[in-house]
Formats: sequence, C-alpha cells, structure tokens
Amino acid sequence: MRGYGASLALGCGLEYNGQPLTQELNLRTVPPVEKTDYDYIIIGSGIAGLNTALLAQEHGSVLILTKGRIEDCNTLYAQGGIAAALGPGDSAVLHMQDTLTAGAGLCDPEAVSVLTREGPQRVANLIQWGVPFDTIHGQIALGREGAHSMPRILHAGGDATGQHIETTLAQRVAQSSITVLEFSLATKILVEEGRAYGVEARDTASSRTLKFTGRYIIVATGGGGRLYRFTTNPEVATGDGVALAFNAGAAVMDLEFYQFHPTAFSMEGSPSFLLSEAMRGEGAVLRDNQGRAFMSDYHPLADLAPRDVVSRAIAAEMESSGGGPVRLDISHLPADTVQARFPTIYSFCMEHGVDITKEPAPVAPAAHYMMGGIKTDVWGRTSLGGLYGCGEVACAAVHGANRLASNSLLDTLVFAQRVVASTLGDAPEPATPGPSPDGPAYVAATLTQRQLVCASAPALSLESLQDLMWRNVGINRNGQRLLLSARILQLWQRTMPKPEDLPSFELANMVLLARLMVEAALLRQESRGSHFREDFPQPSEQWEKHVVLTKISTSQEDAT
Ligand code: FAD
Ligand code: SIN
Repeated sequence: MRGYGASLALGCGLEYNGQPLTQELNLRTVPPVEKTDYDYIIIGSGIAGLNTALLAQEHGSVLILTKGRIEDCNTLYAQGGIAAALGPGDSAVLHMQDTLTAGAGLCDPEAVSVLTREGPQRVANLIQWGVPFDTIHGQIALGREGAHSMPRILHAGGDATGQHIETTLAQRVAQSSITVLEFSLATKILVEEGRAYGVEARDTASSRTLKFTGRYIIVATGGGGRLYRFTTNPEVATGDGVALAFNAGAAVMDLEFYQFHPTAFSMEGSPSFLLSEAMRGEGAVLRDNQGRAFMSDYHPLADLAPRDVVSRAIAAEMESSGGGPVRLDISHLPADTVQARFPTIYSFCMEHGVDITKEPAPVAPAAHYMMGGIKTDVWGRTSLGGLYGCGEVACAAVHGANRLASNSLLDTLVFAQRVVASTLGDAPEPATPGPSPDGPAYVAATLTQRQLVCASAPALSLESLQDLMWRNVGINRNGQRLLLSARILQLWQRTMPKPEDLPSFELANMVLLARLMVEAALLRQESRGSHFREDFPQPSEQWEKHVVLTKISTSQEDAT
C-alpha cells in the first residue's frame, strides 16, 4: 500500500505582510496501515476533512482517506478569504441578512444563524492554530467582497488564504496521531441495517481494494467543478461524495444550484484561474471591449452585486459582443499595492502576458461552487445513520440558491465543529423529517427514468460530459436542453463499463451527479439565484422550497 511521504512545498516565493508564502511540511512516511477499524473515518483532506480530524482526534482514533496528495483540494486555491463579523459596527445579524439576501429565499434561517453566530469563534480557533491572517497596524485586515454590507473578509498572504489554511492544518495533522492514507479513493460507503459502518477504498497506486470500518463516517470530499468545461476547481473536484452518499441511500438536496464565479482568467490555452472577487472589493471594475464599465446597467450594487447577477451580466455582455471575454480592471490602484494585495494573481497574469497593474485582464465566468450536496441538518447528520457530511459536499441550506462570497470556508469550520459535537451526543435528537417551520419547504423526488430517444448521443468521455454540462446546465438553462441532457446522461449511465481505475470511478460519479443536477434543474420551473431558466425567467413563490432527491427502487421506475 502506498502511504504518504512527500515533503510539501507550496507557494510562489512571495511575501505579504512579512509572511513567507512557502511552507514546508514534513509528513510521516509509513502510516499504520494494518489497522482497519477506527472511531472516525473522514473522506477528504481539504479544510473540512482536516479540521474535523483535528477536532475528532481528541475523542477517538481517526483515519483520513484522500484520493490524491493531502493538499490536492479546492481549499488550497481559496483566494478571497473567510467572512466573519469581526469588524467595528459589524454583527452576526448583519452577516446573516447579507447571507439570506444572496441566498434568494432558499437559505435555512437556522443554519445561517448558526453560521454567522458561531463563525467568529471558529475563525479565532484558526488564528490560535497558527493561520497567519494579514494585519494592518496590528489589527486583522478585513476586505470587502460582493453583496457583503461590511468589510468582513479575513485573508492570508494577500490572495493565498487557502494555501495558508491548508498547510497550517496539514502540519498539525502531520504532528498528530491521525492516520492519513493518500492516494486512497473512497469507492463505496458500507451500509448495514440502515446505518453506515465503513468505507471501501482503492489504493490507486496498487489498485488494491481496502476496507475500513468506523463508528462515524464523515464525507468531506468537496465540490464537483470538473463537471464543467470551464472551472476554477482542481482535478480532484469530481463530486464523488454526492455519488457515494446517494448510492448508499442518503438524500441529496439543492443540486440545481451551481455557482459560476464571474471572473476567471479567460485566454485561449490558459486554465480558468480565479481572479478573486476581492479585486472588485478593492475597487476593480468590469469593462466591456470598448472599455465601458457595465455593471451599473444590471444592479444597484454594480461590480459588487451578488455573484449570480454578475455572472449572468457578463454572459449577456459576451453574447452581445460575439463571445469574447470582458475585462477586469484594477489599474486604478498603485502597482505596489496590487502586487502586495494580490501576489498570486499578479504573478499568474504576468506569466500569461497581462500586467494587471497597467491593463485589464480578460475574464469570463467559470463553474466554482456546489451549493447543493448531501442533505444534512445543522449538526452535519445525513438521512443515513452513522453518515455525516461536512464542507462543500454537504448541504444544510446555509447558502440557499447562491452562496455569499467567502462563506464557504466559514461553513466548513462551523459545521466541522458541529459534526464532532454531534458524535459526542451534544446534538438534540434529530427533529422529525420534513420542513422546519421557519424555513423553506421540501419537494421529494427520485431519479426519473427517461425514454431513450436520443439516437445521436455523443460517446461518453470526460470532455463530452464537460461540454454537455457547460452548454446545457450552465449559467442559462431551458427545459428542452435539460431534457435532452437527462436522456443522454441516462444513456451514458446505462452503457458505461464498470469502473476499474481512478478516472473511470470519477467519471461514473460525475455522470451520476450530472443526472441528479439535471433532474433537479428540470423540476425547478422558475429562476432563482444561480439557477436561471430561459423558459421560466422569474422566481415563483411556489418554488420557495428545496428539491430533495433519493435513490429510486427499480420497482418505482416510470417513463416520461
Ligand atoms: P476540498 O478542499 O475540495 O477537499 C476535498 C477533499 O476530498 C480533497 O482532499 C479531495 O482529494 C478529497 N476527495 C474527493 N473525493 C474523494 C474520494 N472519492 N476519496 C477520497 N478522497 C476524496 N471559499 C471561501 O469561502 N473563500 C474563498 O476565498 C474561496 N476561494 C476559492 C477559490 C477557488 C479557486 C476555489 C476553487 C474555491 C474557492 N472557495 C472559496 C471555495 C472553497 O475553497 C471550497 O468550498 C472549500 O475549500 C471546500 O473545502 P472542502 O474541505 O469541503 O473540500
Ligand atoms: C474569490 O476570491 O473570489 C472566491 C471567494 C469565494 O468563492 O468565496
């Protein structure tokens, strides 16, 4: 079996506020692989997995399974920072209001209240653990981002927040008794008598199947941006956790809501590298190809409007000008300020021939964040006993139909702590299933079996899936294209060979997640937050509810 042992060197050699951006991790080389029974099995090593593991190790043995190296995750790339109501004049109530507004009527108020009230304490824990947040005159520096009414974004290394968090947490894990198995792909949640009791995994180096048992199984596998042709997410973001939990029988929710970040670098041959919303927080302006600032045509908050609004505005501008990117202009700031505040972005753009201190950068929207996921309560409990969800893969309806910037890292911290608390018996008994009296209602559904009438379906490949999702399940959707996609996806799912290696397991997971997203998007006959239907362009009161999907039993299959 392959353990982990590489010395992790991250960063671009720059400094910000006196903090070096390169850190070294000295990880153990030989994990105790003979042990197969743990108290906590955590799948994933981003902020959600590592934070949960560090909290859980106080209470039992912990195993982390992660399919790449420990630092292969979305967290590493987080730029803008973590939102928390810490500044003068700010409060949990204001933060809650902003979150609810961005969420477009689909946030669960209790979950948002938990997030915004408990957030500052969880951020304080990160500071105690050594995450070097940037300061100004000895105080934590607080930035601004879209749809936040106050400056409340803590950042580290300028725009290298995720890198500092991931390396700090990974270092603590390396110094702990937690067992980490890198290159270990979780392939199945083991369930007996309605309760999760273990995980089947595959050592991707030797192709050996591994089996672990645990009292608490925590899915922290992050998002699924790789479903789309253009995404800010790294290669590991293939939505595995939703597929694992759904296949095990857990309910999933809100999957029609996928957030498209408005400003990813857009140049032929370059990856969709994120240009942080914090740039607009510092006054950067979106311009069309004639140099005109256009966002005030679309929203009173102009460049700091919610992400779904800005992404749709850019998509409209791109369409009206023949498809090319728009421009993000931060050249109003002094060059040394731009270099210090956005060192990673500045370096990336320079490498691609754009000096953002002098000229605007070409940008376009890209798939960024999965608002939906495994349905959990505010203690991270899923609908399946013994199974918990934490981080981007989980959905407690805290982000509703559109996540507020920098609330994701906060969400992982707050709910990691709650997951561990609930395994210790600190959570109240689960409420009776069903809508909470204060929150939006639910509509329950299963995967509809469609008639296979699409003779001209393209062959399944990662690229054909990404193209299908980008074209038909992207920023603008309509019923006809969604239905066609549902049929193609179903066909692919039925004809796909049994997965045998990492890429084929990931592809199978992505096809299933895509099917769930399309079904939910077809059901929701309205436009709300990140879900925009050209055939139902307005929000509808009828749809102030969540779509919850569970596995169909074969006897329930119908044809439409
Ligand atoms: P991840 O960090 O993605 O970790 C998931 C882990 O699960 C990985 O280790 C992965 O390898 C592992 N895994 C997946 N499937 C399997 C499997 N089958 N078996 C074993 N392991 C598996 N949010 C903010 O709040 N502020 C920001 O500034 C910000 N900036 C961002 C910038 C970028 C470019 C991106 C992509 C996202 C950003 N986000 C930001 C979102 C935020 O970073 C993520 O939502 C958050 O890091 C998710 O953390 P996580 O631990 O849930 O998942
Ligand atoms: C960004 O820096 O723009 C990303 C922040 C986020 O996704 O919350």
